[in-house]
Amino acid sequence: MADVDLSVAVGRLRFRNPIIAASGTFGYGLEFAHLVDLNKLGGFVTKGLSREPIAGAPAPRVCETPAGMLNAIGLQNVGVQAFVEQKLPALRKFDVPVFANVFGYCQEEYVEVIRTLEDAEGIAGYELNISCPNVKRGGLQFGSDQAMAAEMVGAARKAAARRPLWVKLSPLIADIGLMARALEAEGADALTVANTFPAMAVDHRTGRSRLGNSTGGLSGPAIKPITLRLVWEAFKAVQIPIVALGGVETASDVLDYITVGATLVQVGTASFTDPTVSERLVDDLRDAFFEAKAFNISQLRGRFRTEIG
Ligand SMILES: Cc1cc2nc3c(=O)[nH]c(=O)nc-3n(C[C@H](O)[C@H](O)[C@H](O)COP(=O)(O)O)c2cc1C
Repeated sequence: MADVDLSVAVGRLRFRNPIIAASGTFGYGLEFAHLVDLNKLGGFVTKGLSREPIAGAPAPRVCETPAGMLNAIGLQNVGVQAFVEQKLPALRKFDVPVFANVFGYCQEEYVEVIRTLEDAEGIAGYELNISCPNVKRGGLQFGSDQAMAAEMVGAARKAAARRPLWVKLSPLIADIGLMARALEAEGADALTVANTFPAMAVDHRTGRSRLGNSTGGLSGPAIKPITLRLVWEAFKAVQIPIVALGGVETASDVLDYITVGATLVQVGTASFTDPTVSERLVDDLRDAFFEAKAFNISQLRGRFRTEIG
């Protein structure tokens, strides 16, 4: 058992294990510190941070769906300045890589958030959420337009001089391989695949949405088969590491993503049913590696075979 080495090197960072708590499902990390030993995780990603604080969408903000959930949080967050002043000092007491999830409604906002974080200590890197509307381009999502996404990642890369830059893709793209290559060329250090799927749930009796907003984002086990394919396509297209997520609940889900090429795996919705799941997955993964007769991640990564028979 002692021989299983779960550690993962990604660029100049070393993660204790591949389990990362996903953005928007783990608060600023601090909310979970009384339930989870944060220092046991591979790392975690903060709730998305914007230049100004955002109050968020009207309730209800979540609703259950078969094998998943819909959310329309409306990107509620304290704003980057309050994060630096009120959350980071407490986070610095932990020995775990913290990634700041960053978003904006135009390119300049993304860059400003990164600049503010660049002046602060206690962050391991940035994860850009590009599934956001660009208000200067008629609300077209950064993540669904390759040229716009590439330009924004190029600008973010220049601003993020000190730290690794991960880019979290939208699942709504015609060819994820082309998008992945374009963002790698702009200097992305890793690609997170992927965000929630735009979706909706209605109550036909009232004719209303089951959410405060008309639409939301679908997450949980329902999306895993779809993101599994996206991870595999992205893995084949680029040299940079893929951080996979979508519906992970068990160690076997983690191994599935590693098999199609993931280097790190994030856990999102599962933390809503069991807030301690990320820590438990670290232990379960050790057993699962042992059973698979694998002693480190590189023995399993990208083992997926396409031959028939
Ligand atoms: C309530 C909720 C809030 C989220 N907020 C963010 C966010 O602020 N930024 C982001 O990049 N992704 C956000 N996500 C997306 C998740 O990080 C993740 O990509 C998605 O839920 C798929 O993974 P899962 O099936 O494990 O939940 C959010 C998801 C949920 C359910």
